[in-house]
Amino acid sequence: MNLILLGAPGAGKGTQAEAISAKLGIPQISTGNMLREAVKNGTALGLQAKEAMDSGALVSDEIVIGILKDRIAEPDAAKGFILDGFPRTVAQAEALDTMGVNIDKVLEIYVPDERICARMSGRRVCEACGASYHIEYKPTAVEDVCDKCGAKTVQRADDAPETVLSRLAVYREKTAPLKEFYGKTGKLLTVEGQEEVADTTKLVFEALGVND
Ligand code: AP5
Repeated sequence: MNLILLGAPGAGKGTQAEAISAKLGIPQISTGNMLREAVKNGTALGLQAKEAMDSGALVSDEIVIGILKDRIAEPDAAKGFILDGFPRTVAQAEALDTMGVNIDKVLEIYVPDERICARMSGRRVCEACGASYHIEYKPTAVEDVCDKCGAKTVQRADDAPETVLSRLAVYREKTAPLKEFYGKTGKLLTVEGQEEVADTTKLVFEALGVND
């Protein structure tokens, strides 16, 4: 299955992509994670992307389409993939079409803005492997220590409240039009993000027709 996850920043795309990936055995492809890795490693790509990311703006379509194209050509994506954070503009969606990528389903996770802000303030990510947690809803077993690799968990730079507000504004302006774009294809499904991660996963699996 080639799947796109749509949703505002903090709606839970990454969290649900992980669950779907584990269930279906297809990779989660997060452009945000790839860009953060490039920034952390100080690559040329990372240097180009950093300023936009820090301010909550989008990285240019050209850069993101380039990294996505390379990533989906890797062998592990041959049997399907979950796009988490891509496409984010109509131009990116059109680029997928131009590449000849067939998308089976587009799943929107809807969460109202006021709940998004609370989620972002509690999010913690592993500074080594990028695993994502929440201090209340998805805590690590040991405080500030990643369950997966034992490194320290920290707050993401773009989770500062003022940056979250600009990311939400960018989402409304640039990404929300994709609902209409994919609505016309008949492939768009919407689930409402719940207070508990597991409750959302249940709705996501139901919407995708996957057994829980
Ligand atoms: P990216 O990393 O894609 O960020 P985002 O879309 O803003 O999404 P997030 O990762 O913030 O949230 P999420 O929906 O994955 O939520 P999560 O599961 O973590 O992009 C970052 C930046 O990179 C962009 O701003 C841009 O600059 C650039 N970029 C990336 N892709 C790009 C593209 N295609 N084009 C241009 N630029 C691009 O959940 C959030 C928190 O809530 C977590 O703590 C989680 O534990 C918790 N949580 C999740 N579900 C629940 C639940 N049901 N109940 C309670 N808590 C929950």
